[in-house]
Amino acid sequence: MRQRIPVPDVLLQVDSTNRHLAQKAGAGLPSDVSCFAEQQTAGRGRRGREWVSPFGNNIYMSIYRKLNIDITAIGGLSLGVGIACVEALSGLGVTGIGLKWPNDILFDERKLAGILIEVTGEQGGAASIVVGIGVNTRMDPVEAKAIDQPWCDLAEIGTNQELSRNLLAARLLEGAVRVLDRFEQYGFSPMRDHWNRYDIYLGKRIVLLQGVKSISGIHRGVNEQGALLLECEGSVVPFHGGELSLRQTVENRRGG
Ligand code: BTN
Repeated sequence: MRQRIPVPDVLLQVDSTNRHLAQKAGAGLPSDVSCFAEQQTAGRGRRGREWVSPFGNNIYMSIYRKLNIDITAIGGLSLGVGIACVEALSGLGVTGIGLKWPNDILFDERKLAGILIEVTGEQGGAASIVVGIGVNTRMDPVEAKAIDQPWCDLAEIGTNQELSRNLLAARLLEGAVRVLDRFEQYGFSPMRDHWNRYDIYLGKRIVLLQGVKSISGIHRGVNEQGALLLECEGSVVPFHGGELSLRQTVENRRGG
């Protein structure tokens, strides 16, 4: 199996590492390129949100890769990258973290890291994909006022060892590249059990939101494509990522 780790560009400031690589891909950049930035002035989150990206402490990174995959399977790739992030963090002594479908890395139900996968083009069966990862390592408390959801950073969580941001960046890159390789060969299904092991809402009552619509049920894990399996009214229905977002129910928050 190939494991080509692209030597990353390290930028001081960029609007968005995802956009930066997508633009280069559009201009004919060869596949397998990665970049890190110290600051993003227009960091992008899922569902049109901003990713607050102040200078100098957090990790903002992207990888551009041409993949021979069916583009409709892309949801599973995002889950796979989430697993790689949890494993990179755990490998460096970060404990108590887990995944929230489809692609949030949480601690204490607050967001520590997020993943944004964007498809920049398709040609002859190959999809041009940019995988973006943002990790709050030490969030500036003033800038953090702009974050519109519960969040945390690694500085708050702490580890039993000194955590090197460079080492974490290297492990994230290595892990994400490994997932891209595996996903291209085998798809999401061999990663499914790993996902279910880290999913903090597995077996719990949840609500799925899509715009103003909501549906509640019991979270029964994910299927071979990475779709969330929701048990509602006696049957188990798969839901694919897209614009969906998951919320815990009030009973869960009370510890039910
Ligand atoms: C989310 O959870 O909403 C996804 C957040 C993804 C943020 C990262 S930071 C590096 C890369 N560049 C971006 O503009 N976004 C992603």
